[in-house]
Amino acid sequence: MKWNKSIIDTLPWGKSITRKEEKEVVANKIASIVNDGDIVGVGSGSTSYMALLAIAKRIKEENLHIKAIPTSLEITMACSRLGVPVASLMEYKPDWTFDGADEIDSHLSLIKGRGGAMFKEKLLINSSPQTYIIADSSKIVTRLGEKFPVPVEVFPQALTYVGQALNELSPREIKLRMAEGKDGPIVTENGNLILDVWFDNIPHDTETAIKSITGVIESGLFIGYGVEIVNN
Ligand code: 5RP
Repeated sequence: MKWNKSIIDTLPWGKSITRKEEKEVVANKIASIVNDGDIVGVGSGSTSYMALLAIAKRIKEENLHIKAIPTSLEITMACSRLGVPVASLMEYKPDWTFDGADEIDSHLSLIKGRGGAMFKEKLLINSSPQTYIIADSSKIVTRLGEKFPVPVEVFPQALTYVGQALNELSPREIKLRMAEGKDGPIVTENGNLILDVWFDNIPHDTETAIKSITGVIESGLFIGYGVEIVNN
């Protein structure tokens, strides 16, 4: 039996999509990589969403049988709306993953997590033999941390302790990410808080240093993950 799931089926994409034409080009490149039978890790954000739209179109037109492992609730709902079958990471290993990024430097290191989904994104990327990062030209930076803070997902009771430990890494500023559409801070899909940490300098060992703090679930730093960049 099927639900009448009009709440999900009429859900628009949350925000307006910037640089739509550029994103469309990379989205089509990702859709062209899909093979029948693939298990695909699907990242979050507007670029990933556009790639999902292009994949859904191929599924319909070519009757492809693929499964998506989504990295966020937003993308899970988009899969449901677009008729893209969803699979669980408990059961399936992705053949490959695609995802967006907030910043990419010349060593292909990344800052991600503007959407707050970096924990599951990192899990999918680490689970996949191959990851494509899809990005328009605005994402390329000369120095990580140039335009975006490093998001750090924190177990709520550990907030003060983690804030103090992060200060040892000499950040310029640490801010608790506040919600829009809810009073108080953002609560992630895992029930945690996010600290946005601005750095003037991000040494190579920063990702490990952040992760080693008790109470940190994950950070949005992806240093040396061997990803492939797909741009236009
Ligand atoms: C979400 C992410 C996104 O991939 C990143 O923020 C890019 O988003 P967009 O494609 O909308 O620019 O890391 O947690």
